[in-house]
Amino acid sequence: MDTAEKIILFCFLLQGVCCRDFNITLPQKIEALNGSCVIIKCRFEIQKQYDKDLTERATGLWLKDGINVNNNLVFNSSTSSQNSFMKGNITGKLKDKDCTTVFHELRSYHSGQYYFRIEGEGELTWTYKETSVSIHVVDSSPKPTVQLYVEQKEVQDQEEVLEGRSVSLRCSAETLCSSPPPTLTWSSTPRIPLSESSRLEELISDLNFTATHRQHRVTFTCTITYQLQDETKTAQDSITLHVQYAPKISPSSSCTRTDVTVCFCEADGNPSPELEWHLSGRPVTNSSNTFISEERLSSTGLRSSITLHQSLTHTSTLQCVSRNTHGNASQLFQLPSSVAREFQFCDSSNRRTSVINLEMKNM
Ligand SMILES: *[C@@H]1O[C@H](CO)[C@@H](O)[C@H](O)[C@H]1NC(C)=O
Ligand SMILES: *[C@@H]1O[C@H](CO)[C@@H](O)[C@H](O)[C@H]1NC(C)=O
Ligand SMILES: *[C@@H]1O[C@H](CO)[C@@H](O)[C@H](O)[C@H]1NC(C)=O
Ligand SMILES: *[C@@H]1O[C@H](CO)[C@@H](O)[C@H](O)[C@H]1NC(C)=O
Ligand SMILES: *[C@@H]1O[C@H](CO)[C@@H](O)[C@H](O)[C@H]1NC(C)=O
Ligand SMILES: *[C@@H]1O[C@H](CO)[C@@H](O)[C@H](O)[C@H]1NC(C)=O
Ligand SMILES: *[C@@H]1O[C@H](CO)[C@@H](O)[C@H](O)[C@H]1NC(C)=O
Repeated sequence: MDTAEKIILFCFLLQGVCCRDFNITLPQKIEALNGSCVIIKCRFEIQKQYDKDLTERATGLWLKDGINVNNNLVFNSSTSSQNSFMKGNITGKLKDKDCTTVFHELRSYHSGQYYFRIEGEGELTWTYKETSVSIHVVDSSPKPTVQLYVEQKEVQDQEEVLEGRSVSLRCSAETLCSSPPPTLTWSSTPRIPLSESSRLEELISDLNFTATHRQHRVTFTCTITYQLQDETKTAQDSITLHVQYAPKISPSSSCTRTDVTVCFCEADGNPSPELEWHLSGRPVTNSSNTFISEERLSSTGLRSSITLHQSLTHTSTLQCVSRNTHGNASQLFQLPSSVAREFQFCDSSNRRTSVINLEMKNM
């Protein structure tokens, strides 16, 4: 640091210590809900020579839309605010230069520019003309925002999630003064039990869960609720999840026999899966002997049936294989050669086996 810099720093410090001036720190703009309250965070500074005049008996005043004490005075901390234009209270200790103020029952005509004035003993009277706070009374609550996080990373624009990933839906809301304070609630359609963590003081609510196919196309709505004296005000934001998942074969997949054998296989996956039949390990092609027909059940579901005209040996196995970009699943239909045998089918995707009775002839 050279000499010039030292001098500048010294002068700067000197100014801070010996030459304190009148100034005030106020928020620039505050919104208030119609019928509710507003908290103005406020700190002021006075010239050092007036320190002795700032006592417990100091009065804080607020002027609206001008600085003329006769015309613009709307609040005087030394008089009951019961009948004044602004109802409220200075909750800060004026002696400690804290002019934090609460106003109640705000209506649209209270919207405007507010100036603070301090009146102490002796010579201390000062209106802070340079800095004011703008109070804007609004009729509806600001909307909360729902943001999607996948594996702790924020996801923009798209709501695609892979099954198994950890998902966090964060609802955050700007809060306005109200008593009781506003609350955030989650709802989803259809309702799914989910673990939820709320930090109401920050008005952030996280909904954390592991994505499963059951949340595909589920809409999660976060609602902020203000319980005001005469009404309840709410605002909400929603997000619709799109979960991508490997195919799952429906346990209802089965075979029936009339004069031919017909097997059905139903798979669900996102993106929509493809289905293939394997007879004794070899892919079956659509032919007059093995007729295959397919039917889309929904944007994620596919149902395929195979009609077998050809003869099967006792070692014949029929397998339904389904795949999409996220994986594959298969189910084995063990075709017995004798009549009315029990046979198993096995869903390789979750190792669950079930036994059904099936009448089948050696064809
Ligand atoms: C007000 O004065 C104090 C003390 O002099 C200073 O620390 C503060 O930065 C000033 N604030 C503004 C907004 O000028
Ligand atoms: C504020 O109220 C006190 C007590 O009623 C009164 O003495 C004082 O003059 C008032 N201040 C103004 C600026 O009206
Ligand atoms: C104003 O605030 C002070 C300090 O918090 C409290 O003692 C007083 O009862 C309040 N007055 C009203 C009218 O709310
Ligand atoms: C505020 O609320 C009052 C009473 O509920 C209503 O009459 C008035 O229209 C509202 N004002 C605004 C700006 O919404
Ligand atoms: C929910 O997830 C968020 C972000 O991934 C994390 O910050 C928060 O701690 C999690 N909450 C719980 C209860 O696990
Ligand atoms: C199999 O062929 C028939 C007619 O030859 C057709 O109608 C059917 O859609 C085909 N199935 C598949 C899965 O391509
Ligand atoms: C899907 O099938 C391929 C062979 O076609 C195999 O290598 C792979 O392990 C299978 N994946 C799953 C998840 O079953």
